[in-house]
Parts: sequence; structure tokens; C-alpha cells
Amino acid sequence: MIELQDVSKAYGDQVVLDRFCHVFATGSFTAISGPSGIGKTTLLQVIAGLLPIEKGQIVLDGQVTNAQDQILHPSVCRIGFVFQFPALWPHMTVRQNVLYGLIHQPRSLQEERLAEIITALDIADLLDKRPAELSGGQARRVSLARTLITHPRLLLLDEPLNNLDARLKDQVLAIVADYRIKQQATVLWVTHDPGEVSGLASAVGQFNPGGLV
Ligand SMILES: Nc1ncnc2c1ncn2[C@@H]1O[C@H](COP(=O)(O)OP(=O)(O)OP(=O)(O)O)[C@@H](O)[C@H]1O
Ligand SMILES: [Mg+2]
Repeated sequence: MIELQDVSKAYGDQVVLDRFCHVFATGSFTAISGPSGIGKTTLLQVIAGLLPIEKGQIVLDGQVTNAQDQILHPSVCRIGFVFQFPALWPHMTVRQNVLYGLIHQPRSLQEERLAEIITALDIADLLDKRPAELSGGQARRVSLARTLITHPRLLLLDEPLNNLDARLKDQVLAIVADYRIKQQATVLWVTHDPGEVSGLASAVGQFNPGGLV
């Protein structure tokens, strides 16, 4: 379970989260929508512990992960983030990008997870390429692979279907749905089109600075 308790976040004078409160149950799938610039990405970043907050706290399964005086790294908390813009490391191959989160794990586990994820996301042919050589949709699948391979318990997805054609959209939706069930993961899915996850989401929240409506 992830709880946001009176979380406030501002950029200078601009308040984006104002004593924001919400609880996401373990295993839930929540679609979050709202107009551009309202604060959806900011919300995911504070939940991930990538941005500090000014007030309140975020508690994941009983552990404080983000508060004024402490912030835990997402990898420590098993939080996975699929960014709105794929943000792959340009100097690494696709294989190195995807395996990055498992760098300290045994080789056998790396190979097993890699085989699983490249099949699921149809990226086997891309492993030796560099990010600059990928199309937008390929880069997006690689960024999803890089996150899922670490088996996060909380999966944060920021407009993950951008740049995908209809077939790939269905494929990514099916992979995330399957992943959530297998790993009993909690999923937060930011989208401008909540209809895209209508069959999967247990709730659709409209972003509001104080909470989800
Ligand atoms: N690093 C930053 N520094 C200053 N202002 C920022 C920063 N990041 C975001 N903002 C501002 O905070 C507000 C919320 O931005 P955010 O990216 O969270 O919106 P969003 O809902 O994800 O928008 P979109 O749907 O366009 O992705 C915007 O007005 C944005 O300009
Ligand atoms: Mg955004």
C-alpha cells in the first residue's frame, strides 16, 4: 500500500501538490489523468523519491520513503519508473540499458530475466543497438523492459503508450496487466486518455492539487 499524507510540492512560487492525500492499495491499478501542466509527472516523481517534498510524507508498506528529512532511492524501495520521455543512456547498448538495474545480480538471473523480457516486448533484434538508432516506439519498449526487469512492487508509468502503434499499445497493455498479476504489483498509469486502460484500471483519478478525484 502506498500512502500520500498531506504532501506539498512547489517549484518556486508555483504550488503543484497542496497537502495532497491519497492511498493506493497493494495490487491496485489506477489511471491518472488531467490537463497538461497540472502536475501528473511531478506526482509520480515525488512518489518515486526522485523529487524532495516540502511537507507531508509518503509511506510505502509502512516505510517512510519521502519526507522533508529523508528520501530513499527508488531502487531501494523497489519502485519502477517508466518516464514520459524514454531517457535511455546514450552511450550504452540496448542490452546494457535493459540490464542496468540488475548489475549487481548473478549472471544467470540477468540472462533469465533478459530472455523473458525481450520476448515479451519483442526487442530481441535491438540488443546491440544504441538508443540513437531506435525509433520512438522501440525506445519506449526498451525503457519499459529496463524497468520491468527489476521486478518493482510499485510501477509508475508516465504516458507509456506514446509513440506506439495500435498493435504495440495492445501488447504493452497486456504485458503490464500480466506483470501486475504475476508480481502483485501496484500500478499508477498516467494518461491523457483513460479509455486506453478501461479494461484494466481499478480506478480512474482526475488529478487535483489536493488529491485524486
Ligand atoms: N523542474 C521543474 N522546475 C520548475 N517547474 C517545473 C518543473 N517541472 C515541472 N514544472 C512545472 O510544474 C507544473 C506541473 O508539471 P508536470 O510535468 O508535473 O505536469 P504534467 O501534468 O505531467 O503535464 P503533461 O501532461 O504536459 O506531461 C508545470 O506547470 C511545469 O511547468
Ligand atoms: Mg507529464
